Amino acid sequence: MMVGDGDDLHAVGGPVRHIPVLLAEVLEALSPKAGDVVVDGTFGAGGYTKAILATGASVVAIDRDPDAIAAGRVLEQQSGGRLRLVQAPFSTLDDHVESADGVVLDIGVSSMQLDQAERGFSFRNDGPLDMRMAQAGLSAADVVNSFKAGDLARIFGFLGEERHAGRIARMIESRREKRPFERTLDLADAIETHIGRAPKDKIHPATRVFQALRIFVNDELGELAKALFAAERALKPGGRLAVVTFHSLEDRIVKRFIADRSDAASGSRHLPEAQARMATFRKAGSGVTAGDAEIAANPRARSARLRAATRAEAPARSSDFSIFGLPKLPGIDLPGER
Ligand SMILES: C[S@@+](CC[C@H](N)C(=O)[O-])C[C@H]1O[C@@H](n2cnc3c(N)ncnc32)[C@H](O)[C@@H]1O
Repeated sequence: MMVGDGDDLHAVGGPVRHIPVLLAEVLEALSPKAGDVVVDGTFGAGGYTKAILATGASVVAIDRDPDAIAAGRVLEQQSGGRLRLVQAPFSTLDDHVESADGVVLDIGVSSMQLDQAERGFSFRNDGPLDMRMAQAGLSAADVVNSFKAGDLARIFGFLGEERHAGRIARMIESRREKRPFERTLDLADAIETHIGRAPKDKIHPATRVFQALRIFVNDELGELAKALFAAERALKPGGRLAVVTFHSLEDRIVKRFIADRSDAASGSRHLPEAQARMATFRKAGSGVTAGDAEIAANPRARSARLRAATRAEAPARSSDFSIFGLPKLPGIDLPGER
């Protein structure tokens, strides 16, 4: 099933606290040591960053959310110059570091973002229909109230794997004529009323639409694809890449990237043949998932998967989005279309 952290995070409930997922496995994959420079592209609550700092390595920690960066300033001050926080999208990670011994990404939203009703990520707490991690740009309300029904249906169908995508999109189009959608609960209730909910349904009928909107509004797939190319440019030979994802679309992007880059026979037809055949990464393992104890302690870990690779000597290849094999969706900004 594709629905990942959003649903699991709702199941956690309770006070706002983000428990880092697969932390021991991420540290093992990165194996940081004193003097190393590691890029944490998803600072969040700083769970990974704190553990990496504890090894004596330095961290350049990126988050596009100004609240996450503001909350990390105390840690930065206490770090003795070993932590530098940057508010930016992680697709630009190679702009913020000369070179790196490690790059780690922990994709998705944090518990803090999900639990704060005013951020608009949750269909359980009433808030503005926002969902922007960076608190700037097109909001979920903008998408829901202005996109054509056909485009909404493609977003819900592809990014949410919602089987009622067309029905929900048409319902939205007719309802917003009378009254635009402005609140999370308004949209969630309208979907539940229209689609209905069988007693055996484990998830709320709006779960997949909310997930799709969040991925779309934050260009999460495009960001991930670009960040992998940026990590390839930033990592030194021998440097480690570790990426934790929470659903199948993201995992597929990481898996295909590592397969393409560790395959000495593949490469872009635009490159000279000798260069195209050089692997830029060596695959490390084949995807790690959380054990029962971690899942019991942190239900969000249930759908997490870590993939890792080690940077080889070959120069970075060109950014060819076709390696991800994502479908072209008219009017929708996804990797593969650029
Ligand atoms: C799952 S949390 C990371 C939690 C962190 N590993 C920890 O242990 O506390 C993901 C964080 O990444 C940030 N984020 C997600 N996509 C991003 C992007 N494209 N660029 C920069 N930050 C992003 C979110 O704002 C959020 O704070």
